[in-house]
Amino acid sequence: MTRATATAPGKIILFGEHAVVYGRAAIAVPVTNVQATATIENAPAGTGCRLSAPDIGARIRLSDAPIDPLAVAVRLAIEAAGIEAEPDWYVTVRSTIPIAGGMGSGAAVSAALARAVLSHIGHCVAAPSTAWPRVSSARWRDQPIPDPETVNRIVFAVEELHHATPSGIDNTVIVYEQPVWFARGRPPQVFAIACPFQLIIADTGIAYSTRQVVADVRRAWREKTIRYEAIFDSIGAVAEAARRAIGAGHVTALGPLMQENQRLLRQLDVSAEALERLIAIAEKAGASGAKLSGGGRGGNLIALVRPERVDAVREALLASGAVRVIVTEVGASNYELSNS
Ligand code: PMV
Repeated sequence: MTRATATAPGKIILFGEHAVVYGRAAIAVPVTNVQATATIENAPAGTGCRLSAPDIGARIRLSDAPIDPLAVAVRLAIEAAGIEAEPDWYVTVRSTIPIAGGMGSGAAVSAALARAVLSHIGHCVAAPSTAWPRVSSARWRDQPIPDPETVNRIVFAVEELHHATPSGIDNTVIVYEQPVWFARGRPPQVFAIACPFQLIIADTGIAYSTRQVVADVRRAWREKTIRYEAIFDSIGAVAEAARRAIGAGHVTALGPLMQENQRLLRQLDVSAEALERLIAIAEKAGASGAKLSGGGRGGNLIALVRPERVDAVREALLASGAVRVIVTEVGASNYELSNS
């Protein structure tokens, strides 16, 4: 094989961020409107492995970058395939997922790279036919695929480089590409979306460091453990209620639950003025509820919007300074993997 291409989607956390780091359950869903794409092509003998990420202007030689996250993802995948010598490859990774915005760009880039490496080497398993992990693209059904467990392990290891104590939710939702009910230390569960619903994802344009926000929450938790544990319990209860509502197709229950989750996130001090302003604007324009998604302090918010209000909410957010607005339907998924 001379060329392999693999993709991975973005993600949002619907309910339960931060509390998930402390053992409560959370819900995350893939966002296939944005994605990372990795391509591997054979290079002339002696070239070594060269990585380029044109979106961030990065050009890296694998052998010169021991701790670069892109290089680590490639190296771990090469190791997982049992290859010892550095291969002669051109590796390119591109992404349409906003960086540092809470949409899982780092995990998606790692997943696309790991899949492309394993696929190029031919280190694949028969496509699983069970519901977990579900194979969502017709293209997948009849061909071997990179083992999702292996990819998940690699992506988690790279996430640990990015932000020290990841809960594991980002890598799980991105690798398995379906809505997940996730609690640390327990096997993640897929759950059915009884009735698809529309979300608007709006970017404040403010980049943030998940590592920093998670560290701030930990410091506050150490100082006010009883209070923070109670907030985490309440967030966990909101996530439980949301899971039941999503499973039963009670979409109207989700708006108030998002509002409640946002109120609790505010108490954790992870919101930001820009987020609060855009959340208020989305709700005024007709969203049934809105909240930040991911680490907070910036990045993206999500708003639950009935189809007839989508245009009004999108326009209001853009007119009020959202730098990017994505409309997505929760319930759809799409996975691309090709070899030639
Ligand atoms: O900022 P993101 O999208 O990587 O989301 C982080 C979610 C947290 O719950 C804040 C941290 C974690 O590891 O789960």
